[in-house]
Amino acid sequence: MKMWSGRFRQRLDPEFERWQRSFPLDRRLLGHELEASRAHARALQRAGILLAEELASILFGLDQIAERAAAPSFLEDDEAEDVHHFVEKQLVSTIGDTGYKLHSGRSRNEQIATDLRLYARASIDQLQELIADWMEILVTRAERAGNAVMPAYTHLQRAEPVLVAHWLLAYVEMSGRDTERLADCRKRANLCPLGSGAVAGATLALDREAIAHDLGFDRPTVNSMDATGDRDFAIELVNALSLLSTHLSRWAEEMILFSTPEFGFIQLPEAYSTGSSALPQKKNPDLLELTRAKAARVIGDATALQIGVKGLPLAYNKDLQETQEPLFDASETLLALLPLVSGWMKAVDFDYPRMQAAAQSGFMNAWAAATYLVERGVPFRLAHEQVGKAVQRCLDKGCELEELSLNELKELNPAFDQDFYSRLTLPAVLAIHDVVGGTAPAQVKQAIAEAKQKIAALRGVAHAHA
Ligand code: ARG
Repeated sequence: MKMWSGRFRQRLDPEFERWQRSFPLDRRLLGHELEASRAHARALQRAGILLAEELASILFGLDQIAERAAAPSFLEDDEAEDVHHFVEKQLVSTIGDTGYKLHSGRSRNEQIATDLRLYARASIDQLQELIADWMEILVTRAERAGNAVMPAYTHLQRAEPVLVAHWLLAYVEMSGRDTERLADCRKRANLCPLGSGAVAGATLALDREAIAHDLGFDRPTVNSMDATGDRDFAIELVNALSLLSTHLSRWAEEMILFSTPEFGFIQLPEAYSTGSSALPQKKNPDLLELTRAKAARVIGDATALQIGVKGLPLAYNKDLQETQEPLFDASETLLALLPLVSGWMKAVDFDYPRMQAAAQSGFMNAWAAATYLVERGVPFRLAHEQVGKAVQRCLDKGCELEELSLNELKELNPAFDQDFYSRLTLPAVLAIHDVVGGTAPAQVKQAIAEAKQKIAALRGVAHAHA
């Protein structure tokens, strides 16, 4: 039986009927739908609508459905319009007409809003754990890199040497912001729409505080029109995920570059690469390429969601059914992707000697050279110009700054002295970046310790939510 057929004289066009169903998508919400239905049933009993034995029978029926759902074929139903209809059908076929009492005083509009919030909350909690794993592997690799050095790039041109650990910690920082955004999003998602009815609030005296508490929500939503028409929580989550996937995409792009023989900084792990059917020598960075492409997809989800909502009058409109897919797609894309990027990061080999060699040429000590002059009272702009001239001379001669003679240097500025050469070595160049957030080894050591604390705090929150 349909949930709404009473006032209709004609049958639905069969093609339209199939096309407007959401069950193929929202059947993944079954667990949340059952949980929310249990809470609603208990509230109905407290409000005097269900007898104790009716409640017991409904709860039994809902448990039966949960059990049967373990078999995937159970969810094949060509008639169910959506997950709400499916549960009603199953409940009635299990316990008889008492099953129809469950829908007293509630609307699918509040149910879908509730299920999607439960889904968003569960996704956030799983994602936080996976991001913590990802951050942890980055920090472990940073620690293992010790004082290994590599070039840092600006404009993709060699700029200055940095510790490999410093570079890896940059990604930890991005991911840390992602976790903050998700935690923030969770706060607003974790409110309970049940009791909002179709648009104006339930018509029965339901204890909304109790329902919210039953489902682990912080409290009920405030306004029934807002609650049934709102998808901000989904928009926020998917936008947070689009930024998370953007970070992973930048990481993937950098790894692809570094794996080319032109850079040669990393060896692609075979377990995460594939070959070419034509070119026998090939080892391709498939995981990284797909990571880059998944970002496009998630950004698309965020865009589709927000554009879908922007023109809607209050409150529920069927357009909102279309917010399901981008929410599911973005969440599930990242839930699948994060363990893979962590696995990749665990497996990759860094070629430290090559990284170090690359960090030692290309005048990456030029800023340090100018700083030497600044410390001797030379105005920076002039020091910059003079070191620039020294670089020019090196380019003509085909050498590095430290290979110029003291006489050549003194021609540019008499302030150059013998101690200048010790300031151009790799360790000296790293050491002068001794500020919070800089690449001096002591600073990086401190940054590693702080990153570990951040991850531990994240695990603590995850534990509290579990
Ligand atoms: N399947 C619907 C959705 O996802 C549930 C709400 C339907 N409400 C309605 N009045 N037709 O949005």
